[in-house]
Amino acid sequence: MHFVDPAVVVIFGASGDLTRRKLGPALHTLACEGLLAPQTRVIGVARTPLSDAAFREQIYEGVASYARLEPSVCQLWGDFSERYTYLSGAYDDLETYRRLAQRLDALEGAQNRLFYLSTPPALYPVIVAQLARAGLHRHPQGWTRIIIEKPFGHDLASAQALNAQVHAVFDEDQVYRIDHYLGKETVQNILAFRFANAIFEPLWNRNYVDHVQITVAETDLVGARGGYYDQAGVLRDMFQNHLLQLLTLVAMEPPAAFNARMLRDEKVKVLQAVRPSESEDVTLGQYAGYLAEEGVAPDSRTPTYARLRLYLDNWRWRGTPFYLESGKGLTRKATEITLHFKPVPHLLFSENVELPPNRLTLCIQPDEAIRLNFATKIPGAGMRVKPVAMKFHYAQDFGDVALPEAYERLLLDAIQGDAALFTRSDEIELAWRIVDPLTHFNQIPAPYPVGSAGPDENFGRG
Ligand code: BG6
Repeated sequence: MHFVDPAVVVIFGASGDLTRRKLGPALHTLACEGLLAPQTRVIGVARTPLSDAAFREQIYEGVASYARLEPSVCQLWGDFSERYTYLSGAYDDLETYRRLAQRLDALEGAQNRLFYLSTPPALYPVIVAQLARAGLHRHPQGWTRIIIEKPFGHDLASAQALNAQVHAVFDEDQVYRIDHYLGKETVQNILAFRFANAIFEPLWNRNYVDHVQITVAETDLVGARGGYYDQAGVLRDMFQNHLLQLLTLVAMEPPAAFNARMLRDEKVKVLQAVRPSESEDVTLGQYAGYLAEEGVAPDSRTPTYARLRLYLDNWRWRGTPFYLESGKGLTRKATEITLHFKPVPHLLFSENVELPPNRLTLCIQPDEAIRLNFATKIPGAGMRVKPVAMKFHYAQDFGDVALPEAYERLLLDAIQGDAALFTRSDEIELAWRIVDPLTHFNQIPAPYPVGSAGPDENFGRG
């Protein structure tokens, strides 16, 4: 087994939900699969006073509830839990970082350090600056990297300011900005599907594709996150990051090689090609009952649903609309990308007045699959044709628990120094350049009932 470098993972915001639900379980599963060096350690930092034992208990509870490989399956928890320690302190107090530095210095072989910022975003600049003051931003004998959770800024100006604050301390190649969608196996498979097969790519352009639909539909409502969500809304919460990332992977040119620089260079070119939107390219919605959610302003105009028509002004895609859609409180939970192909130029079979054009759907979640819809002759007399589907299901071919959690992949990549699945500073700023104007149209979101397909006055659906 090839182990990655031994490293200390320092989680800021360690008593929070992300650590319990995602980071603890992901690290545990990686260890179970033998993918972490045995000397890997985790130090949790947060304000809440907690003993090491209480911290380990919190992590255990998360691992037992959320990990892909449960503690009972791999029997590793006893040893693994010893590697977790906790340090409580204020994020703006240099003393916290001095104690952290002492703790790190006392650990044998702790020269590789991965700092994970999972605190409220307002604290990111504070933590970055204090890490530098305590001399923790580099190590002469090892590597130092920093993972920054979303949201990365609230608009273009704040994202630029945050990039400047981060770059004052860390070089760009030390910085790993998370978009957990890139950690999803099925999202990475967009690239394998496109560039490891010869038969789809020749059709993957304006000549054959009528339009592309990218949907991230959720049934959940804002729940306990009303305070945050009401400031963000669906455009910042989902479009600036996840939907635009999906767009880049679907629309990009093949990079010359599969590495972080070339891959991200190609994604950036897609964002640069996005034509500025007009207000008629956007439909906004708000689910009924949103105004009564905790933390939401009673007269809030925050959209919980959006549908956006985008055009890419480049040779491959000019004139092909991309419809990006996402919302909470919808009929079903599904993330899907569908290429709707152009109809056949001439219909030979007169018994079929309407024949749906071909569709290729990449089902990202929850039913991970790829589906190709095409027409076939109905057996029997005449030439009647009907649409059927060819399907590939991950669960069937690879088994039920085969798909790693996004955070497993992302943590492992950061420890291995592979930034391909993380967002570069120019990419983040370009994405904000696209989303910022949408938030300034000041449209009033149309109401829609929970459990529906979104607002009625929707365009270009299909
Ligand atoms: C998060 C958003 O980034 O992504 C949430 O803040 C959203 O509002 C979530 O629910 C969706 O992620 P997933 O992996 O469940 O599709």
